[in-house]
Amino acid sequence: MTAYGDGVCTLRVCRDCCCGTQAKHPGVDHEGLLTRLEVDSGDHARVLRSDCLLACDESNVVVITPSPSGRRRGGRPVWVRRVLDDAAVDAIVDWVRAGGPGISGVPGGVRERVFAATSLARSYAGR
Ligand code: FES
Repeated sequence: MTAYGDGVCTLRVCRDCCCGTQAKHPGVDHEGLLTRLEVDSGDHARVLRSDCLLACDESNVVVITPSPSGRRRGGRPVWVRRVLDDAAVDAIVDWVRAGGPGISGVPGGVRERVFAATSLARSYAGR
């Protein structure tokens, strides 16, 4: 059991050299999208800002980590690319509100953005 509850997912939102920058993604309201992830996820996810997750080609990157309950049911972290608009945020929020990895199937709006992180990136994200 964590301090965040058995059903709470974690959203690791990359904000570093590429993700969340106007230099790479001009015109995107990065802070607004992050705020929406935080507010709209409510009690269903804790949202953490991350240093570079070593997947800059896929920016903006979000890693959706299952809740403890979801992990026991086989859920594993899901890496999502190009979280650059409201549609991407909506898909992530809807999924964590439905339980996220291991609890609810991957919705189409997330599935179309899923990518396989390198083993180096996965180990770095787990630090
Ligand atoms: S800055 Fe996000 S993956 Fe590198």
